[in-house]
Amino acid sequence: MNEYLIEGGKALAGEVTIGGAKNAALGILAAAIMTDEEVTIENLPNVSDINVLLEAIAGIGATVKRLDEHTVRMSGRTITSETVDSEYIQKIRASYYLLGALLGKRGKATVAMPGGCNIGARPMDQHLKGLRALGAEVVTENGFIKAKAEEMRGTHIFLDVVSVGATINIMLAAVMTQGMTIIENVAKEPHIVDVANFLNSMGANIKGAGTDVIRIRGVSQLHASTYSIIPDQIEAGTFMCLAVATKGDILLKNVIPKHLEAITAKLVEIGAEVRENDDSIRVVATRRLRATQVKTRVYPGFPTDMQPQMATVLTLSRGISTVTESIFENRFLYVAELLKMGAKVSVEGNVAVIEGVEELAGAALDAPDLRAGAALTIAALAAKGKSTIRQIEYIERGYENFEGKLRELGASITKQPVKGRGKASGIA
Ligand code: EPZ
Repeated sequence: MNEYLIEGGKALAGEVTIGGAKNAALGILAAAIMTDEEVTIENLPNVSDINVLLEAIAGIGATVKRLDEHTVRMSGRTITSETVDSEYIQKIRASYYLLGALLGKRGKATVAMPGGCNIGARPMDQHLKGLRALGAEVVTENGFIKAKAEEMRGTHIFLDVVSVGATINIMLAAVMTQGMTIIENVAKEPHIVDVANFLNSMGANIKGAGTDVIRIRGVSQLHASTYSIIPDQIEAGTFMCLAVATKGDILLKNVIPKHLEAITAKLVEIGAEVRENDDSIRVVATRRLRATQVKTRVYPGFPTDMQPQMATVLTLSRGISTVTESIFENRFLYVAELLKMGAKVSVEGNVAVIEGVEELAGAALDAPDLRAGAALTIAALAAKGKSTIRQIEYIERGYENFEGKLRELGASITKQPVKGRGKASGIA
């Protein structure tokens, strides 16, 4: 178990290159096993979630060859099993994309039910609704989801909840299903579009990704492809918030500014300066920030995965801000940690009310989940004095070389084995 040791209070400045999108890569890697031909995926983020999914894919017999830390070559031709070991699902929920991929390719799949997690119950009812609508028989027993289908047929599905995971899982199950499948009320995140673009590069026939309705005409097989993952919208947004919270000046390279519009709009609203170029964005924050209201929404609204980072920025904004979490039911666990630093935040239901303070003070912190861990790192770098952050394994699930990129920007941050500090609070 490692922890970050941080000396905060410095304005961070310089350049950072954003990596491939974790949440696009997870869907794309699952999709890649749907062809027996060779697929090469480039610009993969080298983070633990990706590495665990690659282990799960190799675990069912697919061929996985790491060409370098950001490139993998795969083939589904050698798959020997349709059962995904539960250890992988417990480690990363998104292994459940193999449910849609294996059902779509081989007509059956068994994956462990991913439990809820720190940010909410995260049920899978919409995933199962879509697979059943396609004609699969899906049962949940002994903590496993078992899906099989003699024959699936294209159908018309209306999702009750806008769900990234359900949209991707149903798309995977439908791409090789005979007939036309129409999925309504789908998620429109950039990573949905990336998965659809990748599948189309393999010969799928998907239209409408990025809109409310996706239309899929089933094809009999998918073929080889070489594909590069889009830049990570959330990693970019995290560094944008870091620039503002530390009153710094950071140029983010390898971004798609359009994917960052909701984040940019909010940061400009509170007084930051944001300059967009074709594939880079520069964020400069010099004067005291203003308060604002934030409501997380499905894309293109303000992303829930940016909620903890934005709330952290607002703890330093003059005035009273509110942050409303509309997507998950329990995504304010990090507030208890910010209070240790002198932040003034009170949470009522799904609303955090934040009274800005002049400065935060370093403290001993515990990361409760991935994005909260990133937010606490921002807080510690903005605060005066020393902080430690434990459970950084959460952060390493979604941020490649986080402390290295931060040091490049002038941060005083090191990673060290956890020293005794009493029982770790927060979520195991
Ligand atoms: C994806 O999770 C992301 N994870 C999450 O990012 C992200 O927060 C979330 O989408 C929302 O953008 C990956 O892509 C691997 P959802 P997912 O299904 O697919 C409810 C991160 O930090 N729901 O869009 O699980 C659900 O409870 C992670 O990288 C149902 O009710 O999210 C939630 O309230 C954290 N039934 C809402 O929908 C279902 O069948 C949105 O969830 C599915 C979801």
